[in-house]
Amino acid sequence: MAKKVAVIGAGVSGLISLKCCLDEGLEPTCFERTEDIGGLWRFKETVEDGRASIYQSVITNTSKEMSCFSDFPMPEDFPNFLHNSKLLEYFRIFAKTFDLLKYIQFQTTVLSVKKCPDFASSGQWEVYIQSNGKEQQVVFDAIMVCSGHHIQPHIPLKSFPGIEKFKGQYFHSRQYKDPAGFEGKRILVIGIGNSASDIACELSKKAAQVFISTRQGTWVMSRISEDGYPWDMVFHTRFNSMLRNVLPRTIVKWMMAQQMNRWFNHENYGLEPQNKYLMKEPVLNDDLPSRLLYGAIKVKTRVKELTETAVIFEDGTMEENIDVIVFATGYTLSFPFLDDSLVKVENNMVSLYKFMFPPHLKKSTFACIGLIQPLGSIFPTAELQARWVTRVFKGLCSLPSEKTMMMDIIKRNEKRIDLFGESQSQLLQTNYIDYLDELALEIGAKPDFISLFLKDPKLAAKLYFGPCNSYQYRLVGPGQWEGARNAILTQKQRILKPLKTRSLKSSSTIPASFLIKILGLLAVVLALFFQL
Ligand SMILES: Cc1cc2nc3c(=O)[nH]c(=O)nc-3n(C[C@H](O)[C@H](O)[C@H](O)COP(=O)(O)OP(=O)(O)OC[C@H]3O[C@@H](n4cnc5c(N)ncnc54)[C@H](O)[C@@H]3O)c2cc1C
Ligand SMILES: *[C@@H]1O[C@H](CO)[C@@H](O)[C@H](O)[C@H]1NC(C)=O
Repeated sequence: MAKKVAVIGAGVSGLISLKCCLDEGLEPTCFERTEDIGGLWRFKETVEDGRASIYQSVITNTSKEMSCFSDFPMPEDFPNFLHNSKLLEYFRIFAKTFDLLKYIQFQTTVLSVKKCPDFASSGQWEVYIQSNGKEQQVVFDAIMVCSGHHIQPHIPLKSFPGIEKFKGQYFHSRQYKDPAGFEGKRILVIGIGNSASDIACELSKKAAQVFISTRQGTWVMSRISEDGYPWDMVFHTRFNSMLRNVLPRTIVKWMMAQQMNRWFNHENYGLEPQNKYLMKEPVLNDDLPSRLLYGAIKVKTRVKELTETAVIFEDGTMEENIDVIVFATGYTLSFPFLDDSLVKVENNMVSLYKFMFPPHLKKSTFACIGLIQPLGSIFPTAELQARWVTRVFKGLCSLPSEKTMMMDIIKRNEKRIDLFGESQSQLLQTNYIDYLDELALEIGAKPDFISLFLKDPKLAAKLYFGPCNSYQYRLVGPGQWEGARNAILTQKQRILKPLKTRSLKSSSTIPASFLIKILGLLAVVLALFFQL
């Protein structure tokens, strides 16, 4: 059964969707409105309508070993956290290796996607595209929406009374490219997400003074964790995830707060989150605490009101002579080419089964990829989504009933609010490893620990105590990759290689973190023993 699939967008999600379609023997066509691949990760000096826009200095907040696709490790000499140009280079090598470019129609915009009249029986779609000013309609068997969700800026101007009087300059963070032109200015950054913190830090090196306004506060984490390893390799192990799942919620939250305060006391720095026991996404920023310590950045509370030149805050304080306001207030979801009845955006949220499938369709021939904000890297997540979707399209996997899917959406939402809170920016949050495993289970690619432990204890130990990287999902099942075992065992080499730029005489000692792990394991064994 030949299945023609339309992939909308050639960012990361689109590229991996293309590869998964090809792996499953489907016939994909990708439509990309711009002239090149990469989406968000292709930096440009100018802001383009309808495409994500990043600043020149963006560096990944997820490490290379945790961000690569499952059968395509990043080159050994790539640094662990990548400048956007380097990440784009990886995507280019990826696209070339798997010969993806020939399936992409560039400078082609998808205007709308509609069900065919005989949808109930065929499950087909009419896709209206525009290229070189010409419109055209093409029929497809299935749709993968990969159009991204960092496009439509969200500026809540109504919450800023007096903004119309303000004489300075103000703009959304998506307009920000580099610190040139901001020398000597007094700048206020609104919001405290990853972009807000990056921009505040960068500007604070040139500006006279930077203020950062936050109502909620946030935890700040360093990219560097135990023994200098990337944070996500330590945080996202199955062992740690298991602990977070089995220990009582209140203890986990308390431990997280302790952990976060180990680097610096968030209360002293004015950053402590309003509800410190929510597992709200932390900001990853290595410079922010030191910038606060230098006084180059000052933390303020919510803005109450603006005058021509000054900003008045909720706590009654005022900062005069503000020249620039940067709204790092996030994005709104929007799918201009989709009908509301298909994917309805409400309160910046969509009701999709496992963040992918509209639950009410008669045929499972439509899915969104990458519409998610995991606590880990989005790339392996989008990959597993695409692996599952393509198997659903082929009829090798099937979805449950509409009712079951609706129930799942409601339950998942309740759990999310409990873990991460109600905040706007947290609407797509999920628990990283749990979600990956869930998707892998659907396609039969989740490793079975008990049998693996008996067959290959060394590998099993790495899987359980080591970082939960994407190679783990290529060990068994469809799409198995021979290189997966080796990629897992040689991971440390690829982490250290880019750092080994000066030869040293080697010495060998047992790292403290290893001993801590052994002690942790002992504690768990003891705890389990006494419970029984
Ligand atoms: C500053 C910043 C830093 C980030 N850092 C990380 C990180 O370190 N790690 C991580 O995992 N995630 C990170 N993210 C999350 C980010 O969303 C993902 O990394 C990823 O780039 C999303 O890819 P995408 O393909 O889904 O969307 P995009 O990259 O936005 O690509 C969408 C593509 O679709 C095209 N398109 C849109 N509409 C149409 C249409 N109608 N017709 C045709 N084409 C269309 C666009 O032109 C674009 O090329 C970051 C996000 C931001 C904003
Ligand atoms: C990395 O930064 C982007 C942009 O702010 C954010 O969407 C994403 O959730 C961050 N990832 C992690 C793991 O913090």
